[in-house]
Amino acid sequence: MKRERLASRFGFLMLAAGCAVGLGNVWRFPFVVGQNGGAAFVLVYFAFLALFGFPVLLAELSVGRGGKAGIAGAFLALGGKWWGRIGLAVFAGNILLMVYYTDVAGWLVKFAEAYAVSGAPPAIGALVADKPVCLTYMLVAVGIATAVCAVGVQRGVERVAKWMMVSLLALMGVLVVMALTLEGAAKGLEFYLKPDWRPLIEHPGRVVFDAMGQAFFTLSIGVGAMTIFGSYIDRQESLVKESAWIIAIDTFVAFTVGLVIFPACATFDVDVASGSRLLFAALPKVFEAMSGGRVWGCVFFVFLSLAALTTVIAVFECIIGGLIDMTRRSRPFVSLAVGLAVAALSLPCVFIDKALDFEDFIFSKFWLPIGGLAITTFVSYRIGWGWDAFREEASAGRGIALPAWTRPIFRYIVPAMIVIVIITGLA
Ligand code: TRP
Repeated sequence: MKRERLASRFGFLMLAAGCAVGLGNVWRFPFVVGQNGGAAFVLVYFAFLALFGFPVLLAELSVGRGGKAGIAGAFLALGGKWWGRIGLAVFAGNILLMVYYTDVAGWLVKFAEAYAVSGAPPAIGALVADKPVCLTYMLVAVGIATAVCAVGVQRGVERVAKWMMVSLLALMGVLVVMALTLEGAAKGLEFYLKPDWRPLIEHPGRVVFDAMGQAFFTLSIGVGAMTIFGSYIDRQESLVKESAWIIAIDTFVAFTVGLVIFPACATFDVDVASGSRLLFAALPKVFEAMSGGRVWGCVFFVFLSLAALTTVIAVFECIIGGLIDMTRRSRPFVSLAVGLAVAALSLPCVFIDKALDFEDFIFSKFWLPIGGLAITTFVSYRIGWGWDAFREEASAGRGIALPAWTRPIFRYIVPAMIVIVIITGLA
């Protein structure tokens, strides 16, 4: 069986960026910024994207392109049997993510539909309590991703990711124009863009910790999700350059969502520090108070649904592509099996109240950082793939090569920061 690959560089960038751009950008980013006091936090976050996100993303893509397989297969091919086992454990994180992410993606689809059909969104508390509805929409999200992946890499996943991402960027443009013409735009932008260093001075630990966690989650790094996309491209472009592009697109979307949300909050007196409910509880109030709010609400939640669904499709591809490498079974068969398995494993999140928080806690606080540690160790120490082979792969192709002086970042700085994250997470 010939291994599939992506048809174009644009498709690769849209798929990798589509994986990165998701709830982390549209839901998590604004509320974390709101809780941590605005602009100063945004600057700390940018620093972590460069110092921390960039090396791990580059490592994941390089391992995939070098090993020509998903994370488990590539660790096995490049590092031997033990690394293959570690890769398998890291890979399992993708399944853990999907068993709660699909539930939240379902809520967004439900909100978009409710705006379109009746003009009134459900209250988020009532929606979460309505098990049959949550179940239905979770199954819709799983069903879409399964179907797209079953069709194939080029004709299914790549094509759909391209269209969804282009529509998402277009809708985002519309939303920004709307938000910037709101009455409270200036006040909202001041909070978002003019640094006030007090929160950072008062709670440095929390600010740094949240910024680091956000950098990890938003780029989809730590569980080898990006590895599979690296395995679908050739050596024409340097991966240093491609990583920079992916980070730029992801950051652009997160940053722009802030340009929409903070002016809206300022105009309609919504508390920006209201935490994880900011998006679902606060924004519907904004749309209610606006003229034409129904249309804007619908556009906004369609935008959010697109962001979440491209991520679900991309992570499904990571799971399915990885399993095809390992089992050599046909794509439709593996897709169906993965769809059924994820649907079954998502049931606790739908039916048990605390399951979502618990699953997210294990995933974000343990799986991601430990996986990140495994990946940076693999590319920078000789017990793994080793620095020279990694650097060669990362640099091959047109564009920027990976400079030799960056080695200590991979060997010491990133692992040390990850250990700190894990310990703080425990405490
Ligand atoms: N980055 C995605 C988002 O922002 C979530 C995500 C997908 C993810 N795959 C991942 C996070 C792998 C960590 C690891 O919504």
